[in-house]
Amino acid sequence: MIVHVLGSGAGGGFPQWNCNCRNCDGLRRGTLRARARTQSSLAISADRRSWVLLNASPDIRAQLDACPALQPGGPVRNTAIRAVVLMDSQIDHVTGLLSLREGRRLAVHCTAQVHTDLTSGLPLFDVLRHYLELELTIIDPDQAAGFTVAGVDGLTFHAIALTSKAPPYSPHRHAPARGDNLGVLVRDQQSGRTLFYAPGLGELDARVRALLAEADCALIDGTFWSDDEMATAGISQKRGREMGHLALSGAGGMLEELAQLPPRRRILIHINNTNPILDEDSAARRELDARGIEVAWDGMEIAL
Ligand code: MLT
Ligand code: MN
Ligand code: ZN
Repeated sequence: MIVHVLGSGAGGGFPQWNCNCRNCDGLRRGTLRARARTQSSLAISADRRSWVLLNASPDIRAQLDACPALQPGGPVRNTAIRAVVLMDSQIDHVTGLLSLREGRRLAVHCTAQVHTDLTSGLPLFDVLRHYLELELTIIDPDQAAGFTVAGVDGLTFHAIALTSKAPPYSPHRHAPARGDNLGVLVRDQQSGRTLFYAPGLGELDARVRALLAEADCALIDGTFWSDDEMATAGISQKRGREMGHLALSGAGGMLEELAQLPPRRRILIHINNTNPILDEDSAARRELDARGIEVAWDGMEIAL
């Protein structure tokens, strides 16, 4: 399986248009050793010919341009994207669907909760139906059998319900439901190798720990270094936990969690622009290096 990181940043990307935090300002001025990042999304394929997108970010147009495999040429209108699988209904994960409206048809897999959000608080699906044939498949999480995606040979998907958060606009923002947020385990049927993807992870339970222990590679929530990072930067009083993101550092944080598990390839994704790990010369980044934990970047490819 080939995993192509289309975008590795959290909502807003890096640098964020209205942000002058140490990171965003430093990147613009060229005084910080760091890479710019678009909003998180993956493209996955077993054969480099047919691809599945995991989430569709508002930066999708630039992301597709930067990944030539997704446009194979051929007929006057064509794409190598066979479907989009949505992890949740957050704006940074779904609004790229609008930029796919020029297609003839669009296959989308999502949970019933995400379907509710995208036909109520943010009725993207209703809008898209005026432009193309929308083929929706509802994902029932935590099914042993998993699912496949039509037109994509060689990959099996297992959706896992995660504890995180529905978006602020969601009618059930304050009534969390199983299916608001997914992690997905993707298995290459030929090699048996697996990827676990979870860009929004608010807390780890026994199932998630088991998946992290098992998966050959995990691309997981690296949004915040500390739970109070937004407050410390003077941006917002919202804590990472309230937003459905477990911070990397601190007691019970993601790094401590990962340290309890067997060593596997761990890559952080959905990095918020305030996170010190974006600064490649930071102490936080050195700590990741020492722990053998990687940070995803736009254009990164992982072969599994
Ligand atoms: C999140 O990951 O918590 C959201 O994408 C935040 C946002 O809506 O920008
Ligand atoms: Mn997000
Ligand atoms: Zn910033």
